[in-house]
Amino acid sequence: MLRRARAEDANAVADVFVASFAGLDFLPILHTEAETRGWISATLLPTHEVWVAERDGQVVGFAALGDALLGHLYVRPDAQGRGIGGALLAKAKERRPAGFDLWVFQQNEGARRFYERHGLTCVELTDGSGNEERTPDARYAWSPPRA
Ligand SMILES: CC(C)(COP(=O)(O)OP(=O)(O)OC[C@H]1O[C@@H](n2cnc3c(N)ncnc32)[C@H](O)[C@@H]1OP(=O)(O)O)[C@@H](O)C(=O)NCCC(=O)NCCS
Repeated sequence: MLRRARAEDANAVADVFVASFAGLDFLPILHTEAETRGWISATLLPTHEVWVAERDGQVVGFAALGDALLGHLYVRPDAQGRGIGGALLAKAKERRPAGFDLWVFQQNEGARRFYERHGLTCVELTDGSGNEERTPDARYAWSPPRA
């Protein structure tokens, strides 16, 4: 089940982010868990349209949408491979029908394959100098199919 996140979901969203982000083990650790949790409640939730996926009443994934950007998409590791990420990505397409971009680290091959299977196209590769982690990333774009 997908629903809009509420302010009181901050802890549950942070639990998903922390567990899922830990799997991206090629990245430098720049923030403590407390800093990450503070950023989610004070910045991410108030500035993005956040959708959460629930299973058995528990938040297991979320997507954070900006204007024309899918800013964050994370599914808890033990809930991956069951269509939850696909459902959240479909929601992003529904909510941003004119299209959107997203950034993914180049080494995140699983996520890149996932986006490509779902019709997104790689439109830019960077050397990472523009992101906080200084890690090469890729910009993917989704455009609606032509009528
Ligand atoms: C990338 C990510 C969001 C994908 O989420 P997910 O829930 O694992 O994705 P899905 O289950 O929808 O799709 C993965 C694969 O699982 C399988 N799958 C999908 N639905 C399924 C179902 N109902 N039953 C069993 N398997 C299924 C398919 O092989 C699917 O491949 P597809 O993309 O061709 O459909 C997730 O792996 C993740 O959180 N990764 C770590 C964080 C990250 O990298 N985020 C992206 C940062 S840009």
